[in-house]
Amino acid sequence: MPNNNKVYISQLKDNVGKEVALSGWLYNSRASGKIQFLIIRDGTGLCQCIVEKGKVSDELFEELKHLGRESSLTVTGTVREEARSVGGFEMALTDAEVVSPAADYPITPKSHGVDFLLKNRHLHLRSQRQWCIGKIRHTVIDAIRRFFNDNGFILIDTPILTSMVGEDKQTLFEVDYFGSPLHLTQTGQLHVESAAMSFGKVYCFGPTFRAERSKTRRHLTEFWMVEPEVAFIDLDGILELAENFVSFIADQVLQNNGSELETLGADLEALEKIKPPFYRITYTDAGDILAGEKAKKFLAGQLEDLKNQKQQIEKRIAELEQEQKGQLKQWKRDKNAAELIELRSELNEVDTKIENNPKHAKLAAEFVWGKDLGGSDETIISQMHDKPVFVTHYPREAKAFYMKTDRDNDKVVLNFDLLAPAGFGEIIGGSVREDDYDLLAARITEFGLKVEDYSWYLDLRKYGSVPHGGFGLGVERTVAWLTGERHIRQCIPFPRMMDKVYI
Ligand code: 4AD
Repeated sequence: MPNNNKVYISQLKDNVGKEVALSGWLYNSRASGKIQFLIIRDGTGLCQCIVEKGKVSDELFEELKHLGRESSLTVTGTVREEARSVGGFEMALTDAEVVSPAADYPITPKSHGVDFLLKNRHLHLRSQRQWCIGKIRHTVIDAIRRFFNDNGFILIDTPILTSMVGEDKQTLFEVDYFGSPLHLTQTGQLHVESAAMSFGKVYCFGPTFRAERSKTRRHLTEFWMVEPEVAFIDLDGILELAENFVSFIADQVLQNNGSELETLGADLEALEKIKPPFYRITYTDAGDILAGEKAKKFLAGQLEDLKNQKQQIEKRIAELEQEQKGQLKQWKRDKNAAELIELRSELNEVDTKIENNPKHAKLAAEFVWGKDLGGSDETIISQMHDKPVFVTHYPREAKAFYMKTDRDNDKVVLNFDLLAPAGFGEIIGGSVREDDYDLLAARITEFGLKVEDYSWYLDLRKYGSVPHGGFGLGVERTVAWLTGERHIRQCIPFPRMMDKVYI
């Protein structure tokens, strides 16, 4: 078996007409008399290999015909351009060697329930969808580091084990640290603030933990967050930094992952619009929108659209069910079955949205100034905009102790949430930090925390206090938004959720 011309699938475009070898796994196959179509994946892409009887030995032809999905193998053949083939190239196979045969791979193309796939996450990572999301996550993380490194920020690694309550006392994971309680960090912000007083512009990037008793599609108990912090900056400066940062990430994903975005069915046009400036509204404006006619009209229109969507999905399901009753080739039957499962899950989602629409409309209409915006409120605001929206100046009582009180209106703080468009909701939370020693100490007490536990944090307000601030961007929520994936559990390789940790 000549392996000296070994290439990756991503290199096929440079090897048209040549005989090369590929090593990978059998993603899928079908046979039709004297010809077989093997789809091989090798981590860089998919390639269809054509096996013709007579062009390989009869034994090999038979072996390949019965080879199970996810068997590992090395194939040799001639590369040709074929626009209709997956990836745009295919290989006319001349030889193959099975590295390790696999039988009864548990994940079939017929699709499975969420629970089953999460239990089999170690295998499901090989699926086309997970592969595309994984590649995009990689680009997002690379873009995060690149943006800050290229803009003069210094990376500061903040501790995971900490005694500080960074956000709220209700969501701490306690750890027994040699007999004393510590917890897993909710945020690196407090520590990174101290580093900003040394380096000026800093960021920390790592896993953060919240014991959130929430099973929503937006919550994980372990998620990755990047947190820049800048000395001598005001709210406008932080907003500008955030919109440049998010636009850079979106642009990098568009540049590097066009085909993955397409495979995932992401809205490329919408992503192309992600350029500064983003919309800016205050919390009070958001309340007016929610409680006013604009949101009411918008939600009524949305309900109509959802009902139409439901009708169309039901029509397609009926067509496919009818087809399945007739005589079909096995591959077509499997393809229909997979589409049916997809459609039924879409129908489920549309049904849930139809059911939630009046509830969300009621919650929005009953908006009361003073409370944090709910998930559904954020969804409505973000659905009403085609670009990300900054919501600024939240009520003081609804937000964390470290946020700076607006000196022109002490009912609000100088903070913001950034809502991704099309209903994805919050991806960033940030603020100017309270830089006055006494006001911060008072806030710490108001929060039921002990001032002495925060003495080092208060020191920053004692020795050369400066206006400063920053934000935290959640990686999984950002990936979910960019890929169009509804649930953030799909956007981290091994998700940790409140109700279950699978593998
Ligand atoms: O708004 P949050 O709680 O802000 C902070 O933690 C600040 N200390 C950040 C800072 O100013 N340095 O969280 C920031 C972001 C959210 O917008 C969201 O993207 C993500 O972190 N996030 C979560 N992602 C997944 N699961 C959860 N349970 C999350 N909680 C927050």
